Amino acid sequence: MKAYYSTAYGGPEVSQYGDYPDPAAGDGQLLVEVKAVSINPVDYKVKRGIAKFMSGSRFPRIFGSDYAGVVKSAGKGVTQFKQGDRVYGATPVIWGKPGALAQLLAIDQKFARAIPEGISFEVAASLPIAALTALNGLRRCGVTEGKDVLINGSTGGVGHFAIQIARAKGAHITATCRQVNAELARKLGADETMGYSKDDFAKREKKFDAILDAYGKMNLGDICRLLKRGGIYATTQIKPFLFFSSFYVNLFYGKKLTSSNMRSRPEDMDEMEKLVIDRKLYPIIENYFTLDHSDEAFELAENGKPRGKIIIRVLSA
Ligand SMILES: NC(=O)c1ccc[n+]([C@@H]2O[C@H](COP(=O)([O-])OP(=O)(O)OC[C@H]3O[C@@H](n4cnc5c(N)ncnc54)[C@H](OP(=O)(O)O)[C@@H]3O)[C@@H](O)[C@H]2O)c1
Repeated sequence: MKAYYSTAYGGPEVSQYGDYPDPAAGDGQLLVEVKAVSINPVDYKVKRGIAKFMSGSRFPRIFGSDYAGVVKSAGKGVTQFKQGDRVYGATPVIWGKPGALAQLLAIDQKFARAIPEGISFEVAASLPIAALTALNGLRRCGVTEGKDVLINGSTGGVGHFAIQIARAKGAHITATCRQVNAELARKLGADETMGYSKDDFAKREKKFDAILDAYGKMNLGDICRLLKRGGIYATTQIKPFLFFSSFYVNLFYGKKLTSSNMRSRPEDMDEMEKLVIDRKLYPIIENYFTLDHSDEAFELAENGKPRGKIIIRVLSA
C-alpha cells in the first residue's frame, strides 16, 4: 500500500510518501480502506516526539489519528462490523499504535464507529478529536441555555466546533479570535467576538459563567478576573498542577478550573452525530490535500494558522 510514514520523530525531513507493507486485521480488528484523515495538533506533536514516553520508539511508523473509511475485511471475533461498512474514529497513535495516513489501517473494533447515513467520509474524519473535545469541554464547564460562555481560540479545530455546540445549547457566546476571523466566528454562531491578546483580556469588563479555553493557555489572572463567582474554566491542555490551582482558586475565589479532553463514550458520539445530522454542527475545512502531500498538510496545521480543519484525502490502491 501507499502511506505517509516516518523513520524517526521529527518533521518533514524524517517523513515520506511511498510503499509500505500492508497491515492485516488481527483478532478483534478491522482492516479499513482509509478514505479521509483530518490533522489535529496532537498529530504533529506526537510525530515530533512530544509524547515519546507513551508512543515508544518503533520505526518506521505511520501517524494520523482521525480517520474515515470502509471495512475491507474483519478479523476473528469482530461482531459489530462487516465488509463494506463505512466507519470512522480516532486511532490511538499516542500509545504507539499505527496511524491512519495510509491506504489501509488495521484497527481494534472499539476504535471504530459506523458513519451515519448522510455524513461524508470527509465530514466524519473531521469530527472525532476536535468535536468530542469541544462537546466534553462545554459539558465540563457547565454550558447550558442562557449561560454566558467565553470560547478562547474559537476558529481552530476545537473552537469552531465549540461555538456551534454552544449555539445549539442556547448559550450566549463570546468568541476570541484574530480580527480577520471575526466574521467566521459570528457565522458559526458567536454573539460577540474579541481579540485574545493580553490587552484584549485586560480591557474586558464583562464576566462569564463559563470559559472553554480551546487554545488552552489563558493565564490564571485573566481566568479569575473574567469568571463570575461559581463560574467554571475548562482547558484543552494537560496541566499537571491544575488540580492544586483549582483547589486554591475554588477556596479563595469560588471558581473552578478543570480540563477538557476528548471523551468518546457512545452517548457522546450519539450527541455529536445528532448535531451533525440536524445540521447544527459542520466542519469548516481550511484545505484539502492528497496523501502524497501530507507534508504540506502538517506544515499548514503547525504553522499556517488554519481555520477549522485540514483534510487529507486518501485514494484507494
Ligand atoms: N486534551 C485533549 O483531549 C485535546 C483534544 C483536542 C485538542 N487538544 C489541544 O487543544 C489545542 C487546540 O486544538 P485545535 O485543534 O483547536 O488547534 P488549532 O486548530 O491549531 O486551533 C488553535 C486556535 O487557537 C488560536 N490561538 C492561537 N494563539 C492564541 C492565543 N495566544 N490565545 C488564544 N487563542 C489562540 C488560533 O487562532 P489563530 O490561528 O487565528 O491565531 C486557533 O483558532 C491544541 O493544543 C491541542 O493539542 C487537546
